[in-house]
Amino acid sequence: MDTDRLLQQLTDFLRIPSISTLPAHSADCRAAAEWVAAELRRLGCREVQFLASGTHPVVWGIGPEVPGAPTLLLYGHYDVQPPDPLDEWTTPPFQPSVRDGRLFARGAADDKGQVFCLLKAIEGAARPPVNFRFLIEGEEEYGSRVLFDLLRREPQRTRADAVLIADMAYAAPGWPAVYTALRGICYAEITVRTAKSDLHSGEFGGAAPNAHEELLRLLGRLKGPDGKINIPGLYAAVKRPTRAELASWRRLPFSETHFLKQRVQAKALAGLKQHSVLERLWALPTFEIHGVLGGFTGEGAKTVIPAEATAKVSLRLVPNQKLKTVERQLATAVKRLAPRHVQASVRFLHGADPAVVPVDDPAFRLLDRAFREVVGRGTVAVRAGGSIPVVPALGKSGAPVLLTGIGLPDDRLHAPNEKLDLKQLWDGIRVFRRFYELLGGKGVGAKS
Ligand code: BES
Ligand code: MN
Ligand code: MN
Repeated sequence: MDTDRLLQQLTDFLRIPSISTLPAHSADCRAAAEWVAAELRRLGCREVQFLASGTHPVVWGIGPEVPGAPTLLLYGHYDVQPPDPLDEWTTPPFQPSVRDGRLFARGAADDKGQVFCLLKAIEGAARPPVNFRFLIEGEEEYGSRVLFDLLRREPQRTRADAVLIADMAYAAPGWPAVYTALRGICYAEITVRTAKSDLHSGEFGGAAPNAHEELLRLLGRLKGPDGKINIPGLYAAVKRPTRAELASWRRLPFSETHFLKQRVQAKALAGLKQHSVLERLWALPTFEIHGVLGGFTGEGAKTVIPAEATAKVSLRLVPNQKLKTVERQLATAVKRLAPRHVQASVRFLHGADPAVVPVDDPAFRLLDRAFREVVGRGTVAVRAGGSIPVVPALGKSGAPVLLTGIGLPDDRLHAPNEKLDLKQLWDGIRVFRRFYELLGGKGVGAKS
């Protein structure tokens, strides 16, 4: 493998600040889509199209036709999360840099580096006998509305013998994983208004209501200090993992102490103490506050009573919960928990149902074998705490959805100093190349 050239190409991709949630970066999203399209053309695709959006297009491609060969749909995303807080990055997020065998950049692991693996695994002397289809989207980090609507209109785009997604991580270093479930998400803004406009805190303080105070009290009521979410009905649909699944999680290379000390790096963990940490991460709903806006947050001091305050929050949903139901439950709870003198409203930004992914199709054995041959260990079945909104839609046609990845648990997705280990990158290319060969029925019984 010409690793210098490959690293240069990935660096070009990572340099594009394709932040889908910020309108100021629309042109960058488009540029990242162009980068993907150019790669697909280089791979000899018969068809490369931009679909469904001018600024955040879904990049669709059909690879060279191989009569009689199986069809494999590759899914990934070229958009990334905002890089802030910027001053916590050792090197700037969009100036990729290698230190100690690790590539640091926003998107290195999530998901540009992994899309890169899927594509570069196709390149090379022996073309794998597979009919490739590509759906590489640019709005995954903002709820995938564009692709959702596209697949509702044109479900035949997902027709394939298998769907492969590389947007996840190993269970632990040396332990490749396949994912059996993803949490869903319900992202909302909760706004509280207490007066017509802001007021002088000396003239009015002590007698006028304060929107921030009311909002914080409301948020405090929505989730108790024990981690229990106080939204009526929320837990009713939650399906407990089976005993067998819980037992298999106990055998995973996961230690709660290591998780606290090395990954969370806090003094204590939070959440429902009667459940294991993996259950809290994978099988229970969450309520998180992402940010609070309103009042005075600039430098210096201003004495004001804010009339309005907004919290950006999200709930993660687990198997059997439904986005539509949870939206209704949250809106009702906010109305009920806000005092009468406060005007409270909820605005939904995006959302997705949870996904359950069966892993019994024969294609999973081929992926397992590819990992085994290349990195020395097959896949373990895990769940993800995170979400990929279109996964249920990608599986609708009945094709198995192989959810895997070549990242590591300490890649710091969405956080400062996101990275991808170069060994994971090069191994990843080899693993997927071997998987394509095996799927195409070529080289079965042979070593890569
Ligand atoms: N690749 C992640 C999902 C993920 C993270 C899977 C960690 C497994 C482990 C994906 O890009 C992501 O971050 N999704 C968003 C979706 C949301 C914005 C709709 C998420 O989970 O926050
Ligand atoms: Mn991702
Ligand atoms: Mn992400």
